[in-house]
Amino acid sequence: MEKLKLLLFGVLLSSCLCDGLKILTVFPVPSPSHGILGDNMVKHLLNGGHEVTYITPFKNKNPHPKLHTIDVSANMKLFDPNMLDVKKIMDGDKYMQDNALLFVLMNSIASSTLGNPNVQKMLKDPNTKFDVIIGEFMFSDLYSALPAVLQCPFIWFSTIEAHSMILNQVHGPLNPAYTADYLVARVPPFSFYGRVHELWTLLVGLYHHNFDYHAKEVSDYETLIAPIAREQGKPVPDFNVLKYNASLLLGNTHVAISNAVPLPPCYKHIGGYHIDEEVKPLPEDLQKIMDSAKHGVIYFSMGSNLKSKDLPDELKQGLLKVFGALKQTVIWKFEENLPNTPKNVQIVQWAPQQSILAHKNLVLFVTHGGLLSITEAVHFGVPLIAIPVFADQYLNANRIEKKGFAIKVDLSRTMDQDLKVALHEVLGNKKYAETAKALSIAYHDRPQKPKDALNFWVEHVVRTRGAPHLRSVAVDIPLYQRVYLDLLALILIALVVLLVVIKKILGLLTSKKSVKQKKN
Ligand SMILES: *[C@@H]1O[C@H](CO)[C@@H](O)[C@H](O)[C@H]1NC(C)=O
Repeated sequence: MEKLKLLLFGVLLSSCLCDGLKILTVFPVPSPSHGILGDNMVKHLLNGGHEVTYITPFKNKNPHPKLHTIDVSANMKLFDPNMLDVKKIMDGDKYMQDNALLFVLMNSIASSTLGNPNVQKMLKDPNTKFDVIIGEFMFSDLYSALPAVLQCPFIWFSTIEAHSMILNQVHGPLNPAYTADYLVARVPPFSFYGRVHELWTLLVGLYHHNFDYHAKEVSDYETLIAPIAREQGKPVPDFNVLKYNASLLLGNTHVAISNAVPLPPCYKHIGGYHIDEEVKPLPEDLQKIMDSAKHGVIYFSMGSNLKSKDLPDELKQGLLKVFGALKQTVIWKFEENLPNTPKNVQIVQWAPQQSILAHKNLVLFVTHGGLLSITEAVHFGVPLIAIPVFADQYLNANRIEKKGFAIKVDLSRTMDQDLKVALHEVLGNKKYAETAKALSIAYHDRPQKPKDALNFWVEHVVRTRGAPHLRSVAVDIPLYQRVYLDLLALILIALVVLLVVIKKILGLLTSKKSVKQKKN
């Protein structure tokens, strides 16, 4: 009888897998690079035969019979376009590298997403059913509350390198002696001060995550999610239980690009899945320019966040002068045409970045150091100059410089001169291109393409009903036990007791002595 049941269950399961899974993906951050990651993940899941519901702030460009989008474009107004003040950053203001600013912003996005009428409607609909949820982790744990209503396993997706604030939910923080806070951006090995500072930063982060930020999430859970579960007669678990109950953590990383640090079994690298498998042909004019560049091509793009209006005019002219003195052709992605552009500099408003990086004549990529751009550079084996602007870009830049295939240049009003030095170094020293090629080989040499790993692990979670076998045992052990604070306390108490006893004995001895002396 049991066997029959098991067989029946197996048949049912495989038949439901043949039809594909019903997957909810939550990518609510209204920033273009997050949109790229969301769109491509959805594309691969659809190609894997699954039915996908996609919570996104962006208009959907590629309709598909098995794709349903839930519009949270209302999140757009939470992103102040003037928040990123490049001139301020150029003058050394580190206001964007502030954890509190980031948390408040990401928390407002999370509550705005779950409170969005379109999302609430989906949650309240009794016919809504999913096999699994994938939620983007951007410094809010709130999405892990969704299983209270949807009653299915939950998977985190982390867009940046593995860091303690997300690993804490599925395993425990990384060792701060060799893993930097992503905003502090140190590269190991650290100095003594560095290690102490990293420990302090971690403790402060954990404190916020477990107390004040956590309290805000609990109250959002109580107002946005718990009432729906109650209404539908479902149990309402404590948010603290849901927060530590994710089945898997997918990382937009690959160890060839990040640091080799010990990660729990539920962490799976899928970095590079956003890169097209087939390189799209270049537009005719760019193809011609790149084909005929005898001395190679340098591609310069500062991503989607830094706008040309942000750069001071002297700097624009300074950059043109530096580029004009090179023998290489420079393709500069910039939204405005500049006067006095030298012959070897081509300004383009739009550029197919992956196709440019794939061209055999490309010799160098000058970038802001976003993780997507760096992953693409490693994919195509191209050396880099990174000019970080905000968020994890400093960490990325420092790390790839240390790995030996890039140079970091600080964003400043006079960075044209620093860039000149860096250009000559990377172009004149073969080490950079060779390291980039070697890392590219390591990056491609894996058992599974990232998109296949994505589909496999998502299906694995459903096949194994939430993959409890991957759950790190550390999650259920309090931090003080993991780092033996209880033992330390015991030793301290024993020492104190010992000291007291010794003092007492000494006291007795001396008082006896004095009694004896008196007698004499
Ligand atoms: C935790 O996740 C597992 C696997 O998805 C699930 O079976 C269990 O019900 C979840 N626990 C709670 C309290 O939701």
